Amino acid sequence: MMGFVGVLLFHQSLKTVIPMAESRLGHPHLGLGVGLRSAHYSHILEHQPDVDWFEIISENYMDSGGRPRYVLEQIANRYPIVMHGVSLSIGSTDPLNIDYLDKLKALANVVNARWISDHVCWTGVAGRNGHDLLPIPLNEESLQHTVRRINIVQDHLERPLVLENPSSYVTFADSTMEEWEFISHMADETNCGLLLDVNNVYVSSVNHDFDAEHYIRSIPWDRVVQFHLAGHTNCRTHLIDTHDGEVIDPVWQLYRLAHELTGGVSTLLEWDASIPPFPVLHAEVLKAQKYIDGSQSVDSAAVPESNEPSPNSEAVPHPAVYVSVEAE
Ligand SMILES: [Fe+2]
Repeated sequence: MMGFVGVLLFHQSLKTVIPMAESRLGHPHLGLGVGLRSAHYSHILEHQPDVDWFEIISENYMDSGGRPRYVLEQIANRYPIVMHGVSLSIGSTDPLNIDYLDKLKALANVVNARWISDHVCWTGVAGRNGHDLLPIPLNEESLQHTVRRINIVQDHLERPLVLENPSSYVTFADSTMEEWEFISHMADETNCGLLLDVNNVYVSSVNHDFDAEHYIRSIPWDRVVQFHLAGHTNCRTHLIDTHDGEVIDPVWQLYRLAHELTGGVSTLLEWDASIPPFPVLHAEVLKAQKYIDGSQSVDSAAVPESNEPSPNSEAVPHPAVYVSVEAE
């Protein structure tokens, strides 16, 4: 495990001292990155844009050779790469897939992945993968089940795992704790890192009528390694995490709060449907700098009520697409 090198971050407004190297599991602050999608391969290879880093969907490259793997290795030679998976199924009752873990580990070595992330969810049962990121009941039994599996995965990968809060559309009668409590206990008991998807917090807060700002204030900030930003679809009665447009202002305001609380970590924009030209994608994540620059003056009153659908989103019915995995 990485040693503490004595670098301290002092949060003036919060009067909190965070030991940076230890608290971020030794991971660097990579800056503002975007998800690597095949639609942009040619543009990236030709123009080598000045983007800070790329996140890849692990499953798109684990079994593939040919052009996707060639392009990835070219990009990995120039840019930092982070691996983001959608099939770990850490909350499932199926046995962990050791072959999958071996492939994750091998790919991480090839691209020098800065870290490996996945989601607090399950994606299949009885040997079948549903390809959706499904929520798990939030109680002591499921917590201990998840903790045991995270420890196995971390031992196998020989590195800390980074796990993301999901967007969700249902809750369980068997849940006995809030999601932020579950995630906090999970991180404390496993020493894993957290990927805070700010848009997911907003989407779930509207769908389940909780306070998004309270959620973000309640998680262990020193465990947060990375942020996700994305657009979503407003169906009026609920929000769906579609990753198909610009980040709306209430999410940017929550991002500004999260930036202030953490002191700033690597930030990644996800855009998986109606994918725009690369310069548009890149410009969207660069907007984060405006909110970072204003983070010291964040006013909790500026964070809107989370149970009101945003007027900035279109009321477009959309199938429940949680994440896009590109065909190989
Ligand atoms: Fe995400």
